[in-house]
Amino acid sequence: MIVLGFESSCDETGVAVVDADRGLLAHALYSQIEMHQEYGGVVPELASRDHVRRILPLTRQALTDAGLTLDDVGAVAYTAGPGLAGALLVGASVAQAIAWSRDLPSIAIHHLEGHLLSPLLATPRPDFPFVALLVSGGHTQLMRVDGVGDYTLLGETLDDAAGEAFDKSAKLMGLGYPGGPALSRLAEQGDASRFDLPRPKLHSPDLDFSFSGLKTAVLIKMKSLPEGDEQAKADLAAATQNAIVEVLVAKSVKALQQTGLKRLVIAGGVGANRLLRERLAERLTRLRGQAYFPPLELCTDNGAMIAFAAAMRLKAGMVDVDSRNTAFTVKP
Ligand code: KG4
Ligand code: ZN
Repeated sequence: MIVLGFESSCDETGVAVVDADRGLLAHALYSQIEMHQEYGGVVPELASRDHVRRILPLTRQALTDAGLTLDDVGAVAYTAGPGLAGALLVGASVAQAIAWSRDLPSIAIHHLEGHLLSPLLATPRPDFPFVALLVSGGHTQLMRVDGVGDYTLLGETLDDAAGEAFDKSAKLMGLGYPGGPALSRLAEQGDASRFDLPRPKLHSPDLDFSFSGLKTAVLIKMKSLPEGDEQAKADLAAATQNAIVEVLVAKSVKALQQTGLKRLVIAGGVGANRLLRERLAERLTRLRGQAYFPPLELCTDNGAMIAFAAAMRLKAGMVDVDSRNTAFTVKP
């Protein structure tokens, strides 16, 4: 079964073709980053309009790259949410229209399930069960994953998401949007030990996170820096990245210890962070466990993860193909 998947929840238009048995055949992606850059963040109205502009050419490209046509497609999937309402409607409408015109099932996928299962697109592929660290611009969660659709929330952020902590700190430092990659690039030239930043909830017994205090601490340090001291800014960037990564690593390890599992899957945009990848891989090796990451290009939003999640649901018999639509909720 060939699944055509659409992602349009924020500022990336993604379309992908997945074979339920053979995996990803092709994916096409357009990032609106440049368009939103001058506003310092995503402008929802512009995002929706640009999805409209891009989505059909990308669909054509993905199908062509896969060597297929619409006639080969057996099901259509789209991101149902969470995300920007207008942006989501573009992907949902196009997907439903194609499904309707071809009498195909349309499968609504939760954006986070897409991220959650995306490391299964890589090799080696983790077996169930595993712990997943889901770190994106909007979410920071630890989940126990026992199978497709079988997710248990272990802990989550009480305020800002990890990606948000990167983005907001980067903004305070006058770095561009999106802040995560910009801040981590600057951090490469910095000395993290120069600034002592808080690591909220680092030693709490639960698996929850809190990042809003860090942002305030960064603001205070930033105000104390001499104007134009670029090295100090790089040092602060390195200290900020270190603080976020240290908490993410500590809580992930705690989740593995509490569940007794050995496999950790990292998903979401912040999963592209090099320091996080290195530190987690290191810790997991020492614990005789293994860390699994999605391919770098599939860490941030993309259509492949949506088409793939739908294919996994189809294979698991979780899609009522006759209902011509499905809904999905995360437990608990
Ligand atoms: O998963 P994603 O593309 O979109 C959401 O669903 O939110 O994640 C975007 C987030 C942003 O906050 C961005 O700054 C962050 O991922 N990000 C990074 C890196 N690349 C993307 N954060 C830290 N280091 C990176 N290399
Ligand atoms: Zn995302």
